[in-house]
Amino acid sequence: MLVFSIETSCDETSVCIMDKNKYIYSHIVYSQEVHKDHGGVVPELASRAHLEIIQKITTQAFKESRKKISDIDVFAATCGPGLIGPLLIGSTFSKSLAIALNKPFVPINHIESHILSPSFNNDLEYPHLCLLLTGGHTGIYLVESKKNIILLGETLDDALGETFDKIGKLLGFQYPGGPELEKRALKGNDTAYDLPTPLINENNLDFSFSGLKTAVNHIVKKNDLNNKFIEDLSSSFQFCVSKILIEKIKKALNKLETESKKISSISIVGGVSNNRYIAKRIEDFLKSHNIKIIFPTKEMMSDNAAMIAWSCLNKDINDCKDILFKANPRLEIK
Ligand code: KG4
Ligand code: ZN
Repeated sequence: MLVFSIETSCDETSVCIMDKNKYIYSHIVYSQEVHKDHGGVVPELASRAHLEIIQKITTQAFKESRKKISDIDVFAATCGPGLIGPLLIGSTFSKSLAIALNKPFVPINHIESHILSPSFNNDLEYPHLCLLLTGGHTGIYLVESKKNIILLGETLDDALGETFDKIGKLLGFQYPGGPELEKRALKGNDTAYDLPTPLINENNLDFSFSGLKTAVNHIVKKNDLNNKFIEDLSSSFQFCVSKILIEKIKKALNKLETESKKISSISIVGGVSNNRYIAKRIEDFLKSHNIKIIFPTKEMMSDNAAMIAWSCLNKDINDCKDILFKANPRLEIK
């Protein structure tokens, strides 16, 4: 079975051709540049940029793969959650090809595909915990099986990636600020600034990052944006984030232990899983608890169409082919 998939939920336009043996014939990820100077994704600009590039990269993918469009058995696309304009462009494009070729169209949930992404390159044990850290979502999930994913806690305000980007903007970085902040933090002192850790003492698995962002803003306003300041503040922010994530992982493990659920591995998925500092701190903590830490492949960490194809291959196509499926910016995992 050969799948053609599209991802356009935010600011990456991506297409992939993958077969049921996980062979990737082509995978193209185009990261939009138009948002660089805006400090975040501008939905209208994102929609226009998807529209400009989608046909071009689809043609390129078929050329690279040496496959014909008529070789495709199933068409898939992200249908939510995400920005409605971008979602409509990718899903309508893929669905139109499916209709024209009389093949099934499979709608994919973006969050679910991030959560399934580490099962592409790892033999995962179930149940496991999944820490989802993207630009739009932050949550902790109990993955009982590929089909049974339970949300244990999530952010009550900003997502972690978004917080990285907003703090990056305060520090003068281009969007997305996350990767640059990690780079600048390398030379900094991670205990230079004592930052707040919201909800860390609450007995739940929810997160809150907006107060942390405000605290950083107050410090920025009182200081010169010189290199040392930027490096120390970036480093202290990452230290604070790691502390919050580790505390919440601890609470999740305790909660599951009281329910007699044995967890031996934790996956970290989404764009922020690229961050080596955070990964290392969590890994060090988990080592002392004898728990494995698992990541997707590098190409499946940030938004990409390969994880959409992989999600599609994990579905029973007869259950979910739905030519009338509507894009939904707030799509939830069923
Ligand atoms: O999963 P993703 O590609 O898109 C969404 O589904 O939202 O995540 C994008 C987010 C951005 O906020 C970006 O700044 C962040 O991931 N990110 C990072 C790093 N690389 C990407 N954040 C921190 N450190 C990084 N190295
Ligand atoms: Zn994503």
